[in-house]
Amino acid sequence: MQHGVFVAGLFLAGAECIGQSLVSDAVSAGGRTAPSAQWFESTNHAASDKTTTNDRTAIMSKGSRSLPNWQSGDKPLSKDMEMETLEAQFDMTLRQWIERYQHKLVFEQVHYRGIPTWKNVLDLWVYQEIIWETGVEVVIEIGARYGGTTFWLSDLLRNFRGPSATVISIDLERPGRGLPDNVHFICGDSIAPATVAEARAAVAGRRTLVIADGNHAADHVLQEIRLYSPLIPEGCYFIAEDGIVDVMDWKEHTPGPMVAAQQFLSENDEFTLDRAREKFLLTYAPGGFLKRIRPAREVS
Ligand SMILES: C[S@@+](CC[C@H](N)C(=O)[O-])C[C@H]1O[C@@H](n2cnc3c(N)ncnc32)[C@H](O)[C@@H]1O
Repeated sequence: MQHGVFVAGLFLAGAECIGQSLVSDAVSAGGRTAPSAQWFESTNHAASDKTTTNDRTAIMSKGSRSLPNWQSGDKPLSKDMEMETLEAQFDMTLRQWIERYQHKLVFEQVHYRGIPTWKNVLDLWVYQEIIWETGVEVVIEIGARYGGTTFWLSDLLRNFRGPSATVISIDLERPGRGLPDNVHFICGDSIAPATVAEARAAVAGRRTLVIADGNHAADHVLQEIRLYSPLIPEGCYFIAEDGIVDVMDWKEHTPGPMVAAQQFLSENDEFTLDRAREKFLLTYAPGGFLKRIRPAREVS
């Protein structure tokens, strides 16, 4: 189990949070896992070292979808992954793209500063747009895992808002490496009263975005939305990640975050679903961009 060894090695240093080891796979961590799914044939075009620039131009201008792979010296990204190219997979469906990303990429081949980053990278682009547009100074990240997104958010906030902008990162276990100065890490269950209280104190009234990427079970996510939504000011967002499990109908993970978001919206008129944030279509948070449109009611 190469993956398990790698995970264990990474996390031993930070095991003071709780005794449990993160050797567990993505399922038990409440994270994503590869669903059993039909796999599409990958067409790997044999390399043609002899293809000249003129040949390539001629092929391209014909709009061919079967271009030779002239970067023949390149190796596939991992040894069990055949080289695939846009032109060879051009007729892939979005469902197949998502299966491919899930099976082959997200867990082992998406990195920020060399740290595994379990995100759909198109979502990260949308997140930085939200952070920029809404003047966010604090991001509460529920679920850090290895910390790739934590570092990404840390760098982004520092660049956008300066050194006082903060990532509040919450996980059952501490990522296995030191975190930047502007990261306030809370080791605990996201829905535990002590965790919520510490997060609220660290927010200190600043403009806040919440990205929930921890336990994706619908009932848990619904509790997270209820507990953290009061911290979000008008115009800012609670992002319930991984509603993709509901859309793809990955049975072992449903009902998931999309169901939780719908339930929350049915009981709360202070938020709306902003589907414009799904503009790239290929998001892992369909039905999950919840935007506050009214101030939070005073709790008596
Ligand atoms: C999908 S991973 C997070 C990936 C990370 N956000 C990233 O972008 O790389 C889910 C993480 O949520 C954590 N988690 C699961 N249940 C949790 C809970 N109840 N409270 C806090 N963290 C939790 C797991 O320990 C795991 O590290």
